[in-house]
Amino acid sequence: MYYYSLLLLLHFIIIVPLVQSSFNIVSYGAKPDGQTDSSESLTSAWHAACTSTSSSSTIYVPAGTFLLKPVTFNGPCNTNHIIFQIDGTFIASSSYSSKTQEWIMFEHVNGVSIFGGTFDGRGQSLWSCKNSHGGCPDGATSLKFSNSKNIMMSGLSSMNSELYHIVINGCEGVKVQGVRINAPGNSPNTDGIHVQMSNDVTITSTGIRTGDDCISIGPGTSSLWIEGVSCGPGHGISIGSLGKEDEEDGVQNVTVRNTVFKGSQNGLRIKTWGRPSTSFVKDIMFEHATMQNVQNPIIINQNYCPGEHHCPGQNSGVKISGVTYNDIQGSSATQVAVDFDCSGSNPCSGIGLEDIKLTYGNSPAKASCINADGSASGFVVPPSCL
Ligand SMILES: *[C@@H]1O[C@H](CO)[C@@H](O)[C@H](O)[C@H]1NC(C)=O
Repeated sequence: MYYYSLLLLLHFIIIVPLVQSSFNIVSYGAKPDGQTDSSESLTSAWHAACTSTSSSSTIYVPAGTFLLKPVTFNGPCNTNHIIFQIDGTFIASSSYSSKTQEWIMFEHVNGVSIFGGTFDGRGQSLWSCKNSHGGCPDGATSLKFSNSKNIMMSGLSSMNSELYHIVINGCEGVKVQGVRINAPGNSPNTDGIHVQMSNDVTITSTGIRTGDDCISIGPGTSSLWIEGVSCGPGHGISIGSLGKEDEEDGVQNVTVRNTVFKGSQNGLRIKTWGRPSTSFVKDIMFEHATMQNVQNPIIINQNYCPGEHHCPGQNSGVKISGVTYNDIQGSSATQVAVDFDCSGSNPCSGIGLEDIKLTYGNSPAKASCINADGSASGFVVPPSCL
């Protein structure tokens, strides 16, 4: 009797909290034939995982190619641990639609992890529309997390998105690790990862080749950690564009370390609109970066104003302060390797240059400063203009 109750007790203590449920999308009707739309199967598997009372639910996607129309996964769910274990490939429709802004969207979820998988947005037809004439739709972001918490993306591969590959918006606690992003250097607006209105995001061990920003950091981003990222082709890592709106949240506490830029348009960039705004950029650390033939390895540009519309006086309201560049080395593809073009009404302050070694072919590289204040230490070439 005692023995039996003890076993029962053990059963509840040990077994029950570990109950896991697994949902294979093939059991929900998905076909790995690259032709049958699997969006309903995936949505049904999500519904089962989300409403399950297990402590953890796994949605399994086996090897094979699954055609996927746009899907949205909504929370909140009963469990705070939903895992997508993906061995297969999802492909979007080859023809673009003007109706959706996202291909795969997560909203109000907590504790979702994606392990593995390939996501092919098949953006080629939209890019050729954009590259040949106007009047094309914007296209869809491939993978977006909105207003969510405790998110992990590990070992997945995203390619040929119509628009941004991954967007993190309004999130708290996001880890992106070992991700590969691939799109041609001439594909329009195919940013790698865009982060905004989010806190505590880390992006590590990730390789990004795109036609636009490698990583773009939008308003309301704080405590962002980027480490071990390679970029290029593409436009580099960019804080901004910021300051497009009069009232806008700033960016603070961003660390970017151990990065490699290969033939990209920019390396480490801060970019703001030349117009009034409440926005700011502060407490930024760029360290240990290698530049290989990068057009603008280090650049702050506060005069962004495409079409020269709506930029009265061209002075940016965005206050930039406390930006450190430490151990930035390699080659610039243009003579001005360090370019600080700050706002006349809000000069940059607290810019630090430490151990900079940037070359420009056989000629000396140059640094250019407008409205920029700060200090240099260690070996700094091109010589500091601060
Ligand atoms: C800055 O961000 C890092 C993570 O990137 C975090 O560990 C640290 O606590 C943050 N610092 C502040 C002052 O918020």
